[in-house]
Amino acid sequence: MADLETQPESAMQDLPPFSIHALELGPMENFVYLIQDHASGRAAVVDPAWEVSEVMRLAEGLGVRITDILLTHSHHDHINGIDEVLGACDAQVHLLKDEARFWGHYQDIPTLHHGGDVIELGETPIRVLHTPGHTPGSACYHLGGDVIAGDTLFVFGCGRCDLRGGDPEAMFQTLKRLRTELPPETVLRPGHNYAETPVSTLEEQVRSNPFLHFDDPLRFVQYRMHLHDRYRHEPYGPVSREAIDRLMREKTGGAG
Ligand SMILES: [Fe+2]
Repeated sequence: MADLETQPESAMQDLPPFSIHALELGPMENFVYLIQDHASGRAAVVDPAWEVSEVMRLAEGLGVRITDILLTHSHHDHINGIDEVLGACDAQVHLLKDEARFWGHYQDIPTLHHGGDVIELGETPIRVLHTPGHTPGSACYHLGGDVIAGDTLFVFGCGRCDLRGGDPEAMFQTLKRLRTELPPETVLRPGHNYAETPVSTLEEQVRSNPFLHFDDPLRFVQYRMHLHDRYRHEPYGPVSREAIDRLMREKTGGAG
């Protein structure tokens, strides 16, 4: 698989201490990210899964040492390569305590996190955001001008809330927090390649992601749980606020 992208132009100007490399792997269009810290030569794999050999090959080509594994959540398609990475590298596994408890694994490791914690990857600080909704302990990783969002926020989409541990009201609050707390120019790097483009900005998502068009949590829940999957298909593209208001009026008698 090809290394899909390195740094967006805007970040290049600020010369961040890191690069993010994305690999699209497996049958579910998962993005596995390798965060490379330039100063230390260390690297972190986010959500190691599927063809781990591709990740290893990338790390080797870059001349970096994988020292950390960052999990956005515990679903099989995001974690099925952990053992293989741990077999090859002496890496620390990081995840939120809430997710370890939900999952039933890794509850005794010393690197369980709470929202707001900062992981230091060499000279790259990575802030852990607790973003429940898809699972109780879902995490996003915020570093420099990027957010690695797992199955919380996709380009023009968001994670399902109907699986075990899903909570659409929590997802509504999580998305609201992301769009208010992170700068609009933040580059969104999702956990799956479900859209027409692999990356976006929060600004573009606020403008055109249907899940960010809701002011009322109950209507968000209705759309997420009952309407979205009937009306949209991959690859996801932009949806205007007017289009969502129209759909909600037609189907429920009220706007978003
Ligand atoms: Fe998931």
